[in-house]
Amino acid sequence: MNMNIYIETYGCQMNVADTELIKTILNRAGHKVVENPEDANIFFMNTCSIRENAENKIIHRLDNIKPIKQKKEQFIVGILGCMAEKVRDNFIKNYPIVDIVVGPDEYRNLPQYIDKALQGGKGIGVKLSRVETYDDIIPTRDNNLLAQISIMRGCDKFCSYCVVPFTRGRERSRNFDSIINEIKQLAEQGYKEVTLLGQNVNSYRFENKDFADLLEAAAVAAPKMRIRYTTSHPIDLSDKLLEVMAKYDNICKYLHLPVQSGSNRILQLMNREYTIEHYLRIIEKAKTLMPDIAISTDIIAGFCTETDEDHLATLNLMNAVKYDGAYMFKYSPRENTKAYKMVDDVPDIIKTRRLQEIIDLQQKHSLENNQKLVGQKQIILVEDFSKKSNNYVIGRTDNNKSTIVELNGNIKFGDLIEVEIEKVTSATLFGKYLKHVE
Ligand code: 5AD
Ligand code: SF4
Repeated sequence: MNMNIYIETYGCQMNVADTELIKTILNRAGHKVVENPEDANIFFMNTCSIRENAENKIIHRLDNIKPIKQKKEQFIVGILGCMAEKVRDNFIKNYPIVDIVVGPDEYRNLPQYIDKALQGGKGIGVKLSRVETYDDIIPTRDNNLLAQISIMRGCDKFCSYCVVPFTRGRERSRNFDSIINEIKQLAEQGYKEVTLLGQNVNSYRFENKDFADLLEAAAVAAPKMRIRYTTSHPIDLSDKLLEVMAKYDNICKYLHLPVQSGSNRILQLMNREYTIEHYLRIIEKAKTLMPDIAISTDIIAGFCTETDEDHLATLNLMNAVKYDGAYMFKYSPRENTKAYKMVDDVPDIIKTRRLQEIIDLQQKHSLENNQKLVGQKQIILVEDFSKKSNNYVIGRTDNNKSTIVELNGNIKFGDLIEVEIEKVTSATLFGKYLKHVE
């Protein structure tokens, strides 16, 4: 039976990319993906487990779709993604509203699990794979300017706080040529930007090719497209990669390099494998090769045993790097991880205070860095109307800063335009249109 399916996506960009694969798999099986849950008879949530509050959000959402299920004769609820992998069949025991539970490596079999649920059973698929990369499945993309490509799946790093190696399984890289062919096709279809995605892209390896080779081949294959990538692990980031970034104009000068903590003692407990000295050497090299590069990071506040001194080391590191942006979190213990067995001994009130100090400092740095751009010319790729008004458009600079510009008769989505930055906040630049660039 062909069903109408609604998919809600939570969590990271990998999940967004996975939802695009899932849509192709469902379409191929004859189902239709709809935009509104009220029109659906199957409701999927592609879930995230990275922190406790991500999971709480999903449980809360399950509670508030109960009325829809009660109203409809047929309404199948499915949990996909990381939380499905983590909670497995307990989902069905604990939340009878759930009929399907399918983890990140079993999406190919979704149509069978749907059939099972339609026959009144429960569809559960949570096996992880060592080889699945969905290489032959072209994602169903909604956006026709910006694309993402998963170049690898899983993670073998086992940072002690992180559940990803357990929910997404072993690291495996997608076929090199097939990625490059997909990028060429995207360019032919008029896409303007592609982001290469992986939990740790720097350990990409296919036959004798590494990530720097892939990035270079991508830049050459689509010389008119902007190329971005995320995420990098500092231990695997090579000088060769920075050199490739510096060499090609169409590789965006933006590096997301999660540091997690500024304290070597905490980094060791986190099993991060690098020291702050190593991390700072990469930053220095990146800034030497690419003076205009923007750098962002991830920081965890209040990891097990973190003292005021460790916290101060994080603030010091931030002062040394002056990040352009950061994703900042309170430590949240996750089952199965190594840190789960340590004592989560930093009281929540202290985690909250430290996190706030980190956020305040980051805002100050973001603002200061942005203020340096006032009066400068920047090139932005026009992506959409601004959130607040259709008289303004939004785009990003090469180094990933969101910029708002007043619309004029010439500007279309997908255009590259040069603007002069007139004012800034910590999160946004405001620019005046100067001219189109080719
Ligand atoms: N608690 C808090 N933050 C976490 N992250 C990963 N696991 C946890 C956790 N248990 C953060 C890290 C990572 C980002 C994606 O999420 O900073 O880089
Ligand atoms: Fe998690 Fe570390 Fe892997 Fe990132 S590199 S997904 S933080 S285990």
